[in-house]
Amino acid sequence: MQDGKLKAICSLEDLRTVSYLTRRITLKNRPGSALVFLFEGQPYSYVNHCMHMHRPLNCERDAVFDETGKYLRCSMHGFIFDPKTGECQSPVCLGQRLQALRLEEVDGVLFFTEKHLTLIEETGDD
Ligand code: FES
Repeated sequence: MQDGKLKAICSLEDLRTVSYLTRRITLKNRPGSALVFLFEGQPYSYVNHCMHMHRPLNCERDAVFDETGKYLRCSMHGFIFDPKTGECQSPVCLGQRLQALRLEEVDGVLFFTEKHLTLIEETGDD
């Protein structure tokens, strides 16, 4: 898909039934994954990459929220992040942010509108 075109992720209804989703992406030709979730009813997406030691937030556990549900939490060493801004709240990385990805909702469907982002189609083979 070309830059500038909408890239469908999922429906809002899909997100209401799960804590979060991941989607394989490339961003500026670098492969990775995106976290997509609802927080206080609003959709958010970030590159699934903790700045501490460059791991996906869900690398050790299939979860990206802490037990309170108020913060994102990296499962590797437990650093926490504000779900609305991606800002790290833990002292070592205080003030650094997860990379936010732009979203748009059209008729209940979420799309990536981030430039230089390609959504990788899941084949079910991996
Ligand atoms: S790699 Fe995320 S907290 Fe250390």
